[in-house]
Amino acid sequence: MTTAPQLVVALDLPEKDAALNMAARLRGVVPWVKAGMELFTLGGPSVLAALKDMGFHVFLDMKFYDIPNTVAQAVRAAARGGADLITLHTQGGRRMCEAAREAADSLRNAGQSAPLLFGVTVLTSFGPGEMPGISAAPSAFALELARDAARWGLDGIVCSAQEVADIKAAAPSLSCLCPGIRPEGSAQDDQRRVMTPARAIRAGADYLVVGRPITRTDDPTEAARRILSEMHIEKA
Ligand code: C5P
Repeated sequence: MTTAPQLVVALDLPEKDAALNMAARLRGVVPWVKAGMELFTLGGPSVLAALKDMGFHVFLDMKFYDIPNTVAQAVRAAARGGADLITLHTQGGRRMCEAAREAADSLRNAGQSAPLLFGVTVLTSFGPGEMPGISAAPSAFALELARDAARWGLDGIVCSAQEVADIKAAAPSLSCLCPGIRPEGSAQDDQRRVMTPARAIRAGADYLVVGRPITRTDDPTEAARRILSEMHIEKA
């Protein structure tokens, strides 16, 4: 990845209008916003269109996990909705991930835009011993899934910033998108494998996804600016 690390704000708010108002406050400050299960379930594709109209790059975080045909069709639907980046579970396996890859590639080959495909490895809310049926440490399992994601042609993976250095060493072609970002002194909430923005950038993260430490403050714009300056100071 050659571009500078990007800040993505997760618009996890209980009303569509509240999410769009939040986006309006962040317009011109942050380049990317994320519509996840809550916002997309509330607002559907019109939310994506509204965010695109405001000039944002849009990350649609629905973490697809289904049979290959269904996921391939969902990739096409996300592309139609204007998503620039989407997530699918790497644990969906080779055939599911390759079907998503083929769907995105066929859109591009037909001259249409298609989203970047990022494979979720291990949710940043999982601590050791919490994943049902998985005895490996979260970081080891995330690394294994990242290797799979690279082999199956995904553009990047979602992981904890704690895992980025090892993943970049093993699969340098992958971009790393990291939730679980917590500025010094902010609440961990339900996240477990967390890192500060500065340390995440130092580790090599390409995208930092930040929700509550920005959206649940009195001044989200200022909170976003502080994180951006921490990211840029670290990169300089
Ligand atoms: O509020 P907070 O900064 O914890 O938000 C993190 C966002 O990133 C949430 O929208 C969550 O759904 C998402 N996410 C995550 N861990 C992953 C993938 C996505 O926390 N592995």
